[in-house]
Amino acid sequence: MFTTALSANPAPATTVDLFEAIAALKQELNAVVLAHYYQEPDIQDVADYIGDSLGLSQQAAQTDADVIVFAGVHFMAETAKILNPNKLVLLPDLNAGCSLADTCPPDQFAAFKAKHPDHLVISYINCSAEIKAMSDIICTSSNAVKIVNQIPADQPIIFAPDRNLGRYVMAETGRDLVLWQGSCMVHETFSEKKLVQLQMEYPHAEIVAHPECEEPVLRQAHFIGSTTALLKYVQQRDLSQFIVVTESGIIHQMEKQVPNKHFIPAPPTGNCACNECPHMRLNTLEKLHRAMAERQPEISLSPEICAAALKPIQRMLEMSR
Ligand code: 13P
Ligand code: SF4
Repeated sequence: MFTTALSANPAPATTVDLFEAIAALKQELNAVVLAHYYQEPDIQDVADYIGDSLGLSQQAAQTDADVIVFAGVHFMAETAKILNPNKLVLLPDLNAGCSLADTCPPDQFAAFKAKHPDHLVISYINCSAEIKAMSDIICTSSNAVKIVNQIPADQPIIFAPDRNLGRYVMAETGRDLVLWQGSCMVHETFSEKKLVQLQMEYPHAEIVAHPECEEPVLRQAHFIGSTTALLKYVQQRDLSQFIVVTESGIIHQMEKQVPNKHFIPAPPTGNCACNECPHMRLNTLEKLHRAMAERQPEISLSPEICAAALKPIQRMLEMSR
């Protein structure tokens, strides 16, 4: 059981069972805790729903909770706020950003878009609300191919901000996309050379990878998909060993759901924990509890940005059915 000493000012520090305290706050606030698979295991274990970006958006779109506690990164909580402008959306650590979203500053993107006036803009959900507001359709790693395939063949498309997912979508759809050159620092850390060495150590294992990885890494993969798709694949595939090429947080869920199988995290290039997203990992169970107890930090967005960003998100939800 996870316990911590909280200094309840001015009373003396007391030991609080965070799991129980969070459960009580969920009742008191009529709150739902939505968590991404890259969150630390304790957070995954208190969540009401754990999912990939599409699943989390769908949950946020349909929840009747009054408060959404978003255990993920800023763009994910922003999406929940855009879908629920009148609800309180809490993010345990407001600094939990995204290196990929940061590669696409709104002013530079506006200039890029202006150079391609006849192009439809499809943006990966890993971007700021301002970029969403400049987009025609949002997509996630689980529906990007499906969405691009629904666009008439003669319609030119800008795909932003992830060049690796963009390249993967180009290969899957045969479409020529104009790519914004952004990338994720976590997924670009995986080394093809180390992956090949690991495969030699575990010749019976299959490699499962997220499409944010670079092309030489994806070429080694037996299966490519969003976090939810990877989880489903390892559950259904009749094999006992998998090398997992994405943020290592998902292995907690894989081990929980299929405890009889062996999951090997793919090695990053250096001797670091770079396969953990430093942004995702800013959230902790303590911060999540504090956010619920104090009703902050909350996500706030201007009504104009909310309204403009809602349209492409709604289009995504419609096109994903
Ligand atoms: P998924 O939508 O596949 O969960 O990806 C989210 C993400 O941030 C990957 O880095
Ligand atoms: Fe962003 Fe990469 Fe972290 Fe996903 S893993 S939230 S894309 S920095």
